[in-house]
Formats: sequence, structure tokens, C-alpha cells
Amino acid sequence: MNDRIINLKFDNKVILNYLNLLYVRNPSDFDDTNKVINKASINYYADPLMIILHKKITPLIEEKISKELIPTYCYTRKYTKNSILHEHVDRESCEVSVTYQHSKVDWPFHLRSEKNLYEYRLKQGQGLYYYGISEPHSRPIELLSECSWHSFFHWVLKDGDYQHFGYDNSSFTDDNVLENMYDIVD
Ligand SMILES: [Fe+2]
Repeated sequence: MNDRIINLKFDNKVILNYLNLLYVRNPSDFDDTNKVINKASINYYADPLMIILHKKITPLIEEKISKELIPTYCYTRKYTKNSILHEHVDRESCEVSVTYQHSKVDWPFHLRSEKNLYEYRLKQGQGLYYYGISEPHSRPIELLSECSWHSFFHWVLKDGDYQHFGYDNSSFTDDNVLENMYDIVD
């Protein structure tokens, strides 16, 4: 299962500076109500920089799984000290997902796949892909660091049962704003 890890060559210092500035400018622009975290977190849905990274990652994941993908949405979260992510599965837009770690923290990620439990300790700049609808995942051990930034990139299979969730099926945006944003990025 180590083939699930991808090393991405993003400039994490630039990204972390950007996220910290984003946080000062706009503490949160999306209310997370899914209750899978034991305490409040800061969340950003479809942040423009993350849409750029999402587009960059897409061909890498397509190559990994040998299937074509349609992006659905991306989501960025600032976890704070003592956070726990309870075991859960994701909604339909998350058929294929990547959790990406911006921060330099040691915070185990657990993934249950075909009745086996895998523990990953991702490093700063590493992502891990998984099947969000069918593979329960969690961070059951409290975060010991003051905070940790993570982004989640989601897709559906182009020819799969969930293809109509492409660009998140406009769940959170009107007039295909999300699809248009992804189209702008070259
Ligand atoms: Fe999840």
C-alpha cells in the first residue's frame, strides 16, 4: 500500500505563507458541519490556489490508477492542536481522493481497505490517494502540534457510476462556477 503515497514537488513554504495570509484575511469561508472532527476547524472550499494544484495532480493520479478522472472539488483545512478525525467515509464526489500534507507534522493517517488497516505517516509535501466512498479513514490520535494544514483533492471516475458528480455537481456553486474555474487553469 506504499504505492498510495505520492511525493509532490510543490513549494510548501510559499503555500503555507499563502494559507496563513488567507486565514488572516478571511478566517473561514465554509462552515464544516460534518461532525467528523472532535473540535472546530478552519475550512476553505475550492480555494483558487488549490484548484491549480488539483489540476496539476490529476494526471499523476490518473497514471497511478490507470483511469481517467473528472475533478469534483478541493478543500483545505487547518486542524488545531488536539484534533482528532473520526473514522468516516466521504460523500459521492470523493470517489478518488488525495489527502495532502502542507505542514511538517507527524500525525498518523489510518486507512481501512478491504478489511485491512494501514497507518501512514505522511511527510510535508506528500499526498496519499484513497477511495473516499469505500475506504474508511481517520486520524484517531490527537494532533500534538499547534496546527496542521491539509488539502483534499477529489475526483470521480470519468466512466464511473458517479461521473455526474463532476465539478461537485454544482452542490455549492451556481452557474457552473466551479467547472469554469477548473477550465481557466492551463
Ligand atoms: Fe474524509
